[in-house]
Amino acid sequence: MGSVAICSVVEPCGEFLDACAAPGGKSVLLSGKCDHVTACELHPHRVSLIESYGKRMGVGNVDAVQKDSSLFDPAWENTFDGILCDVPCSGLGTVAENPDLALRKCEEDLIGLGRVQLAILANCARYLKKGGVLYYSTCSVLPSENDGIVRKFLEAAVGYTAEETDCPLPHEKTAYGLQFLPDTAYGAGFYVAKLRRKA
Ligand SMILES: C[S@@+](CC[C@H](N)C(=O)[O-])C[C@H]1O[C@@H](n2cnc3c(N)ncnc32)[C@H](O)[C@@H]1O
Repeated sequence: MGSVAICSVVEPCGEFLDACAAPGGKSVLLSGKCDHVTACELHPHRVSLIESYGKRMGVGNVDAVQKDSSLFDPAWENTFDGILCDVPCSGLGTVAENPDLALRKCEEDLIGLGRVQLAILANCARYLKKGGVLYYSTCSVLPSENDGIVRKFLEAAVGYTAEETDCPLPHEKTAYGLQFLPDTAYGAGFYVAKLRRKA
């Protein structure tokens, strides 16, 4: 449900980058909206999950790539029309499915995750063409991982604004995005923000 809601916010476009893509659920969904999807994943063993899922679903316009989305690659500067950063997070929106998560996450983990989330978002912003849209999403209900990261990004980024968006699945509007809560969004908590690069 989370994947469908997040992908419903994405505008159809030409070249799309899914910056944190494995196992590939959103890349495959977005392949129906975009001409081509580059599906990036840090861990080599997880890149093969994207490839096998794409093959199983019969999509021919998704290419899986092993890459660290927090590190700048000049070859990709100003390349993509749309980018999704579905960043690694605490997963605290999925506690109903994974009850042990609430016990395992400590403050230190969250600080480390926050650094990675912001680094991925700030780096991928450099890969977007002017006028394009950068989407930031998590499966968390913690403001610090959601609006908190978007706020830090917007404070430092030049030429980006949060754009209002909507979704048919019940949600709460936050300062920068949409927060879905487990009690109203079929048991899952997740977040998405839409950030436009000025043309
Ligand atoms: C929330 S999951 C993505 C789920 C995926 N978007 C989907 O819908 O199937 C986050 C993914 O990002 C990967 N990841 C973590 N750090 C990364 C980085 N620096 N660059 C690229 N991928 C990264 C993780 O290994 C994990 O597979």
